[in-house]
Amino acid sequence: MPKPDSPVSKSPSTLAVLISGRGSNMVSIAKACQRGEINARIELVVSNRPDAEGLKAAKALGLNTAIVDHKQFESRQLFESELAQLLHSYAPQWIVLAGFMRILGEEFVNQWPGKMLNIHPSLLPAYPGLNTHARAIAAGDTEAGASVHIVTPELDAGPVVAQVRVPIKHDDTADTLAQRVLLQEHALFIKALQHCVNKDN
Ligand code: GRF
Repeated sequence: MPKPDSPVSKSPSTLAVLISGRGSNMVSIAKACQRGEINARIELVVSNRPDAEGLKAAKALGLNTAIVDHKQFESRQLFESELAQLLHSYAPQWIVLAGFMRILGEEFVNQWPGKMLNIHPSLLPAYPGLNTHARAIAAGDTEAGASVHIVTPELDAGPVVAQVRVPIKHDDTADTLAQRVLLQEHALFIKALQHCVNKDN
């Protein structure tokens, strides 16, 4: 029997993680969950690309995986409807976009209001969209970074949960900068999820 004054441990929050490629953010989150650093469990990793490297990594970590290949659907709406149905069947509390490279429509996003997170490799609201590092270098910026934000129907425009700043070096290319930012993304996503799941019941 726990003592009356001992803290009540909350059951882990449940996550579904959406990826499109390498999946290094997903792996970082999964390992933090397994270490107990995030009080959460990944119920499902879904990729829209059958060849995503991250799927192998997810399987190696013992996670459930699925593929919903956007190319197999005639419209974005049909793709999103299939993806939503799959996600609802696992009933995750949080949808985590970790390198998921499809734009999601309003009807899809509004099914998880305030409960969908995305990581974006810029200091939002600067540089929404693609090629963030190349744009920051071309603009002569001295700092780049990454943001974890709540997903709203407007692309990369939802409230920022956490940000990390990374210096841009004079000889950086988009690739060298992306590598430096990515290392920080991993820690940032863990911090953001710790904060978010902390508020769950
Ligand atoms: C990250 O840089 C993320 O910010 C962006 O896509 C990349 C995904 O990397 N949205 P990974 O698949 O997590 O390794």
